[in-house]
Amino acid sequence: MLNQILEAALRAPSGGNSQPWAFIVVRDPAVTHQLAIWYKDFWDNVYSKRPDRKDSPVSRSAGHLVQHFAEAPVIVIPCIVGSKGSDRDTMTTGASIYPAVQNLMLAAVGLGVGSVITTFLQNHEDKVKALLGVPDDYQTACAVPLGYPSGEETFVGSKRRPLDEVVHWDRW
Ligand SMILES: Cc1cc2nc3c(=O)[nH]c(=O)nc-3n(C[C@H](O)[C@H](O)[C@H](O)COP(=O)(O)O)c2cc1C
Repeated sequence: MLNQILEAALRAPSGGNSQPWAFIVVRDPAVTHQLAIWYKDFWDNVYSKRPDRKDSPVSRSAGHLVQHFAEAPVIVIPCIVGSKGSDRDTMTTGASIYPAVQNLMLAAVGLGVGSVITTFLQNHEDKVKALLGVPDDYQTACAVPLGYPSGEETFVGSKRRPLDEVVHWDRW
């Protein structure tokens, strides 16, 4: 099943079909446990203290993940060539990895597996890279926990801005 999900990721477009990616599939509970600690650290010390933070479904779902991150049976860490802050670290860099992440998540949900794209761990990038043995010339793009939804909690209500507000016909 993981191979199927990862194969879907590999079908994604990338600049010049360069496929500058690598995917670390963390299944070792000890590694996930360490990642969960760093994940929670960002929540405790930065995110939860943001003055603009509202008690919204999105915020509650993010908080739920903080509590349950270590229970995810699999964490996929998509990586991309180009270390943070280098001249290869641009918006275009991300454009060659995030389509693959979306493919991965869509394939997962098609198989009944829940996921979420997360970036909290990027605040511990150096430590995450060392723990996972990521080469210097790569950076992590995000972390995607995968698992079967327990059904105990559902977080409905993440809304989208309406079409009229965001689409400009012919010019802005
Ligand atoms: C760039 C990016 C970073 C995100 N980082 C996190 C994160 O660190 N933790 C988290 O719980 N969700 C994270 N999310 C998920 C968003 O909060 C979520 O997609 C959004 O609230 C809409 O909810 P929905 O995808 O369930 O509709 C991230 C999403 C994106 C696109």
